[in-house]
Amino acid sequence: MALHYSVMLQETLEWLNPKEGQHFLDGTLGAAGHSLEISRRIGPSGRLLGLDVDESALDVARDKLEEINNVSFYQLNFENMAEALKKEAFSSLDGILLDIGVSSMQLDQAQRGFSFRDENEGDLDMRMNQSVGMPVKDYLKSVPKSELEKVIKEYGEERYYKRIANAIIEQRKIKKIETTKELAELIRKAIPGPRTKIDKATRTFQALRILINRELDVLKNAIEEAIKLLEVGGRLVIISFHSLEDRIVKWSFRDLKDNGQAKILTKKPLLPSEKEMRENGRSRSAKMRVLEKI
Ligand SMILES: C[S@@+](CC[C@H](N)C(=O)[O-])C[C@H]1O[C@@H](n2cnc3c(N)ncnc32)[C@H](O)[C@@H]1O
Repeated sequence: MALHYSVMLQETLEWLNPKEGQHFLDGTLGAAGHSLEISRRIGPSGRLLGLDVDESALDVARDKLEEINNVSFYQLNFENMAEALKKEAFSSLDGILLDIGVSSMQLDQAQRGFSFRDENEGDLDMRMNQSVGMPVKDYLKSVPKSELEKVIKEYGEERYYKRIANAIIEQRKIKKIETTKELAELIRKAIPGPRTKIDKATRTFQALRILINRELDVLKNAIEEAIKLLEVGGRLVIISFHSLEDRIVKWSFRDLKDNGQAKILTKKPLLPSEKEMRENGRSRSAKMRVLEKI
């Protein structure tokens, strides 16, 4: 596996400021880079609840976090974070982290279907939790054209949504689209013009991933849950990777501020340092926002 980077790790630790004996929840364990540092700082008298929907991420995280025996692991969607807390001997949290999106581990596993790189041809699945919901290949088999256009337009912010939806509908009359490579090639052909720096399949893959995993609804629900579970003074840190998600975070935070439930600690989203962006290309689109319960 390539070297693992946790995006905005130092900033996360500064804003969450974990201390000996405190209680935290990481809703997106992944390879547990953030969690390892939180676990070390809260020490044996603290407790960290580590959630991930993806069973294979949990296996990696378990190995990484065995150093200090202060983590409880849950295979759970972070919109259901309250279920994890119910199982613990305490009832509120000092901080919550959501570092959302796909991990580099998931992108590297071709069979998961997240990657559109040709050398990474895989099954067109894209479910974060492979035991819940429908893989993309089955969705594309029967989705009405108008719905497909809407999904690609709204979740992918893709201007060629009509051409792409049309190409998918025409192709499925001939043969079911089953692999990432088949879909990526079809999209590249449907979009006019020469090759572009950013792969032409990027936006459509993003749209389908958001849809299949209900990512925007899940994020909204999670913010509503998080505020209920935090102690007064407890903080919620969210790192997101595209504009639709960041907009939801921004608006939800604003609602909580207007209701008098929280204060926003980051007027504008924080970005990774120049150094981090150079070292880890994936961090370039990251935005962090922080909220404190009052
Ligand atoms: C970007 S990675 C997290 C990386 C992690 N912070 C680290 O330092 O290694 C995102 C992880 O969140 C998980 N995930 C995405 N959506 C989720 C959800 N709704 N509930 C729980 N886990 C989710 C993914 O399976 C993935 O493992």
